[in-house]
Amino acid sequence: MADQFDYDVLVIGAGPGGYVAAIRAAQLGLKTACAEGRETLGGTCLNVGCIPSKALLNASEKFHEAKSGLLEKHGIKLGSVAMDVPAMLADKDKAVSGLTGGIEFLFKKNKVDWLKGYATFKDAHTVEVLGKSVTAKNIVIATGSSVTPLPGVEVDNDKGIIVDSTGALALKKVPGHLVVIGGGVIGLELGSVWGRLGAKVTVVEYLDQILPGMDGEVRKEANKLFMKQGFEIKTGTKVTGVAVKGKKAVVTVEPAAGGEAETIEADTVLVSIGRRPNTQGLGLDKIGLALNARGQIETDHEFATKVPGVWAVGDVIPGPMLAHKAEDEGIAVAENIAGLTGLVNHNVIPSVVYTYPEIAGVGLTEEQAKEKGAVKVGKCPMLANSRAKTIQETDGFVKVIADAQTDKVLGVWIIAGPAGTMIAQAAQAMEFGATSEDIAYTCHAHPTHNESLKEAAMAVLGKPIHI
Ligand code: FAD
Ligand code: NAI
Repeated sequence: MADQFDYDVLVIGAGPGGYVAAIRAAQLGLKTACAEGRETLGGTCLNVGCIPSKALLNASEKFHEAKSGLLEKHGIKLGSVAMDVPAMLADKDKAVSGLTGGIEFLFKKNKVDWLKGYATFKDAHTVEVLGKSVTAKNIVIATGSSVTPLPGVEVDNDKGIIVDSTGALALKKVPGHLVVIGGGVIGLELGSVWGRLGAKVTVVEYLDQILPGMDGEVRKEANKLFMKQGFEIKTGTKVTGVAVKGKKAVVTVEPAAGGEAETIEADTVLVSIGRRPNTQGLGLDKIGLALNARGQIETDHEFATKVPGVWAVGDVIPGPMLAHKAEDEGIAVAENIAGLTGLVNHNVIPSVVYTYPEIAGVGLTEEQAKEKGAVKVGKCPMLANSRAKTIQETDGFVKVIADAQTDKVLGVWIIAGPAGTMIAQAAQAMEFGATSEDIAYTCHAHPTHNESLKEAAMAVLGKPIHI
């Protein structure tokens, strides 16, 4: 340890970026502490993000399968089916506490000191946590992000009328009508949860299509599938106000391009219009660290900021706000601090929407790829996949986008039941610089959903067998 400091590394924030950075740094022999103000470790992801949302998605999907008669086609006959919402929430809380407790165990195992409290910079090597100064040779900012508020719309998660994602993970009963503001990942995942449990779901999206950032064809197909599931989707529509009247909310909307306003009555309104980096109260002015126009901390490829000794990873820096991206950056920053080479390939970060079917992508969209040059595209509908046909879940497709000259895979997009699992293969192939031919000539087990990826790659080469 550098003698003049309390620690070699002090990480601020114990989300997937921060806790992983802290554990890796400690594994590399650096004396490490992690400051976290929340009562449990794991950040947004474990406490109010990935984990509780996936617990509810899983429970609601099982309920929907049983309730809607979907299982009858397989010969499964059920009696009456009911949802016990408090029991579902308790089960979700159990998953969260198991995992957050697991991080506490890993901190102890790896000898990472948890400084309980919010940290503020005093200078580039000193932070204050609960009135106590702590010094470190290296400080990693991993403070994550919070819900972007909608001006004029006040969230009150306790009342359950206007909520953000945290409130929508803990609604005490199924709302009759849930209006979701923002047709992004959170709106569609949490809209799916409550929709499956019986709520009517209306999604209001400012842009002319849901799921910004995803491949155009995927966005259109997803829109169609959500409508088929009963969602009402109002694209090209902006919310101009939400008023609470008794136990209801009245949402005023109008066409994004301007026009006549209308009102929608809702039992619950979910505000899910994005997230913004957590930098307030960090005292960045004390260390002369400026933010970019989007309020993010800029770093170089080693995750070093402009201030020597201060590093940053995760949602607080540019790039997709995803747990696995934060984790990989956490490992890389620790390795860089230790004098090793820690890199993250930001061109190959998969993203998954955990609805049913799942929606996943990695690399460029077809639109982005075409802007860069000529491409070849191969598609395989899930209808042509024997496993999907066998289980009668044939919505969706796999699409492989390859460079027309080199055949190198530039992007893969999937809508399919297990798309989130399937995309890992595509990400690995792309990380290894695969061509579509490499995927097409890799033997895939039969019958699996992944055979559709092989088939789509064969379609890029112009020689599919099953389509
Ligand atoms: P965070 O997880 O936000 O952690 C930052 C931590 O820093 C927090 O615990 C905070 O309390 C702490 N902190 C902040 N300031 C200070 C301070 N000054 N001192 C001490 N501590 C501080 N991503 C996925 O990849 N897959 C998913 O399925 C997924 N689902 C999601 C579902 C929801 C509902 C939400 C909201 C997000 C979801 N995400 C998902 C996004 C994911 O949660 C984030 O990308 C991820 O948590 C970012 O990690 P992070 O470490 O950068 O920050
Ligand atoms: P988002 O950025 O995914 O979607 C927000 C949507 O709201 C956009 O479509 C946007 O056009 C729309 N919007 C913005 N202002 C609006 C307005 N005034 N009226 C109507 N629509 C408006 O953000 P979201 O869903 O809040 O998620 C935040 C982050 O959390 C995302 O970046 C995502 O990466 C992460 N996340 C990831 C998950 C996953 O990986 N499965 C799950 C949930 C969240």
